Amino acid sequence: MQNNNKISVDLKPNKYDVIIGADLYANAAQYITPLLARNRLIIIADENAWALHGDRFSASLRAAQIEIFVVRVASGETSKSFASFERVIEEILAHGVERTDVIVAFGGGVVGDLTGFAAGVINRGVGFIQVPTTLLSQVDSSVGGKTAINARAGKNLVGIFHQPRLVLADTTSLKTLGSRDIMAGFAEIFKIGLINDAAFFDYCQTNAEQIIANNGPERQYAIEKAIAAKAKIVIEDEFENGVRATLNLGHSFAHALEAATNYDETALRHGEAVAIGIGLAAKFSVKSGVLDTQIAQVIIGFIKDCGYYEQIAVAFSNSADTNQNFAPEKLLATMCHDKKNSGGQINLILLNSIGDAYVHKNAPKQMLLEFLHGECESRFSPQYN
Ligand SMILES: NC(=O)c1ccc[n+]([C@@H]2O[C@H](COP(=O)([O-])OP(=O)(O)OC[C@H]3O[C@@H](n4cnc5c(N)ncnc54)[C@H](O)[C@@H]3O)[C@@H](O)[C@H]2O)c1
Repeated sequence: MQNNNKISVDLKPNKYDVIIGADLYANAAQYITPLLARNRLIIIADENAWALHGDRFSASLRAAQIEIFVVRVASGETSKSFASFERVIEEILAHGVERTDVIVAFGGGVVGDLTGFAAGVINRGVGFIQVPTTLLSQVDSSVGGKTAINARAGKNLVGIFHQPRLVLADTTSLKTLGSRDIMAGFAEIFKIGLINDAAFFDYCQTNAEQIIANNGPERQYAIEKAIAAKAKIVIEDEFENGVRATLNLGHSFAHALEAATNYDETALRHGEAVAIGIGLAAKFSVKSGVLDTQIAQVIIGFIKDCGYYEQIAVAFSNSADTNQNFAPEKLLATMCHDKKNSGGQINLILLNSIGDAYVHKNAPKQMLLEFLHGECESRFSPQYN
């Protein structure tokens, strides 16, 4: 159990631990057994993650005489649909789940969001454990209790707050992750620095190569730092009535871009969209007169150097009906459905500076539309004009 670190999310009455470290699965039973009312466990697993790491995870549980039932979920955002939600719910119920059982989410943010929501409503709420297997889910989605599926009107519009009972972030599982999924997770890491920790953004800039390339100490530090920062914000504002909203930096734009690509993660991963969304938020912060142009250029330059703009350029030019899907009016319409909005007004997370994000209430729609026109014309180029 060497090199494992624990971060406590000290919510009342739902305090839980996030355990981070290499080869955690070898001790999975030791962490999970205290949470079980009986020796059985239903696991909702991403098909890819389970094929690669399921044996490693289940070995320790089987050795502890825990009977396991696995419900496999297809990889990808389409699994956050009503149809997939219904299937998963029915399968969990068919396995005879009881109110005192806990179920496990084994996979990335998709499976974590889907399982958390299912756990929150089955039998009016059963416990669940997050076993995040992607970088993005380890540093972000597995912590904080936001669960949701997607609706036609937009992403994550149907869900509840339901905190996990435990998070097991085994960094060994990241070794099989593709480079685009590493980059998607990295976006949610440096986002934390931009929100409230300029020194951490500096660290991400200086150590980007190592964090991206391997499971070394730089990545371990970045994962722990991001989780600790998120936990702190969640403890302060569990239900997002204030500061927690800043964690959505870049997300209003990102969700519009994801909708424009029909949530096709081969075109654009959620984290890749977040990186571009942060660039757009930085530009819009300048337009709104709150952020210095030079600082925006530093942020956008970093996002460009990481390669995220190449991805949006490909997504844009590959879109069969580019003009329709990426139409500024359509992007704005998606942004109008965002959960942060209130009173029919669009609320955005903008930046005063690096390490200083805030909720910008009532962003002028006409100004936003003109801004989106410019961005669509330049095909979301990092260039500044
Ligand atoms: N609830 C929250 O607070 C929150 C926060 C951020 C993002 N999200 C949600 O998270 C989702 C994105 O999560 P994600 O980036 O983890 O995507 P994902 O769950 O789709 O996983 C990405 C890909 O990695 C594969 N995979 C998973 N583990 C693997 C492993 N160890 N090795 C190899 N491949 C593996 C999956 O099969 C999938 O193809 C979005 O739906 C987003 O809305 C939720």
